[in-house]
Amino acid sequence: MIGAGYVGGVTAAGLARFGHTVSIFDRNPEAVPRLLGGKPLFFEPGLEELIASGRDQLVAAGSIGEAVDDAAVVMICVNTPDSGTGAIDLSFVRTAVREVAGATSSGPMAIAIRSTVIPGTTAQVDATILAPLRAGGRQIAAVANPEFLREGRAVADFLHPDRIVVGDDDKWAGDLVASLYARTPTTIMRMTRSSAELAKYMNNALLATLVSFSNEMADIAEAVDGADVTDALLAVHADRRWHDREGRWDPGILGYLWPGCGYGGSCLPKDVKALRAEASALGLTVPMLQAIDAINESRVAKLAQIALSSLPDPNSAIAVLGTAFKAGTRDERSSPGLRIASELKRRAATVLTYDPLIETNGGTGESLTEVLSKTKVWIVATLAAEFESLPDRAVEHGAVLIDARRRFAPTSRGYRGPGLFRTSTDS
Ligand SMILES: NC(=O)c1ccc[n+]([C@@H]2O[C@H](COP(=O)([O-])OP(=O)(O)OC[C@H]3O[C@@H](n4cnc5c(N)ncnc54)[C@H](O)[C@@H]3O)[C@@H](O)[C@H]2O)c1
Repeated sequence: MIGAGYVGGVTAAGLARFGHTVSIFDRNPEAVPRLLGGKPLFFEPGLEELIASGRDQLVAAGSIGEAVDDAAVVMICVNTPDSGTGAIDLSFVRTAVREVAGATSSGPMAIAIRSTVIPGTTAQVDATILAPLRAGGRQIAAVANPEFLREGRAVADFLHPDRIVVGDDDKWAGDLVASLYARTPTTIMRMTRSSAELAKYMNNALLATLVSFSNEMADIAEAVDGADVTDALLAVHADRRWHDREGRWDPGILGYLWPGCGYGGSCLPKDVKALRAEASALGLTVPMLQAIDAINESRVAKLAQIALSSLPDPNSAIAVLGTAFKAGTRDERSSPGLRIASELKRRAATVLTYDPLIETNGGTGESLTEVLSKTKVWIVATLAAEFESLPDRAVEHGAVLIDARRRFAPTSRGYRGPGLFRTSTDS
C-alpha cells in the first residue's frame, strides 16, 4: 500500500481484515507508525478497531522498495490535489508508480491505482512507465481500482462496498486485483481502465449535480412568494422511483437532493473541477459541469452576505459552527464553513469558529457555549448532533440563527422560510 491517508489507511486495514498481508509505506514518516499504532493522522470512526482486528497482517515498510518486495498487488493511494488551475496534479501518482516500477521484485505485479485520476491516466502511466519493463520480460501492468468511500463511514463502505470497480487491459492483472475482494459479497464490476476512472468522476459529478440543482431550486423558491424549497423537495423525495418497490428504502442519495451551503471536502469540489478541466482539454464545452461548480462557488458569498446583513450592529461577532466539511469528520479540506468564515473575515467581520470534533477550534479551543456567548449571528454549517438545540438557544440569546444546512423544520420555533437560509429575522 503506497499512501497511508484516508484511502490507503482504510484500504490497508480492510484488506488486512480480509486476511491479506499488507505492507504499507507513506513518504510522511509519521503516517504509518501513527496508523498502525491506532492513532492515524486523520480521524475516521471505527478505523482503530479495524486496524486492531487485522494488526498481525499489517507491516510498516521503511521504503517503497521494502513495501513492494514480494507484493503481487501494489495499491497507489496517494493524493491527487488541484494543481491550482482546476486540473488535478498527477505528479504524486506518477512518482509513486515510477518508484514502485523501479523497485526490484520477483513474480507478476499488478499496480492498482486507487487514487482518483482523470480517465486515461492508468493507461498512460502503464504505457510510459510499465511497457518498457514488459518489453524487458517483466510481468507488470497497471489496473484502475477507484475508491468510493465516504469519510465518516469509510470502514463500513470498505467492508460492505456499494460496488467494486476494476478496470484492466490485462486480464491476469485485473483478476489479481479482483481476488483481493473475494471476502466481500459485492459484485465486482469489470471494465476498461478509462471506464473505471470515469465511473468515479461520474459518481461524484452526479452527487454534486444534485446539490447544485437543489441550491438553484432554493434560489427560485426564495424569489417565489410563499414557496419553501424544503417542503417542495420532500414531495420530490417521495417519488417512488427513488425508492424500492415498497417505498421502504431510504436512499442516502436523497441527502444530496437538499439545499444548503454547497458541497465541500477533498473530493467533490476537486473532482468536478478536474472533470471540467479535462473536458476542456479534450476540446469539449461542458455547460452543466460549469454551472454545477459556479452555483456551488456562489453559496459562500451569498451566505456571507446574509450573515453580514443580519448583524444587529456592525461590531457584533459571527459564529461559524461546523468547520469540518461535514459532520462526523475532522477533515477541513474545502470546507464550506471555513470558506464562509474566510469570506466574512475578508469583509472585515469578527468571526469565531467552532466544530465538535476539532479541538483547536480556530486556535482558541473554546467550547460551543463560549463561542455562542460571544456572538450574535450563528451560521450552522454542518449537521453535527451538538447543534440540535441551537434554535432554542438562539431564542434565549436573542441571536440570529442561519440554518445553512436547512436542517430545522421551517415552521419550528418561530423560524420562518422562505429564504436561502432560514434566520430568525427572515421576513
Ligand atoms: N478522502 C476521501 O474521502 C477519498 C475518497 C475516495 C477517493 N479519494 C481519492 O484518493 C486519493 C487519496 O486521498 P486521501 O484522502 O487518502 O489523501 P491523503 O492526503 O489523506 O493521503 C495521501 C497520502 O499519500 C502520501 N503520499 C504522497 N505521495 C507519496 C509517495 N510518492 N509515496 C508514499 N506516500 C505518498 C501522503 O504523504 C499522504 O499521507 C485522492 O486521489 C483522492 O481524491 C479520496
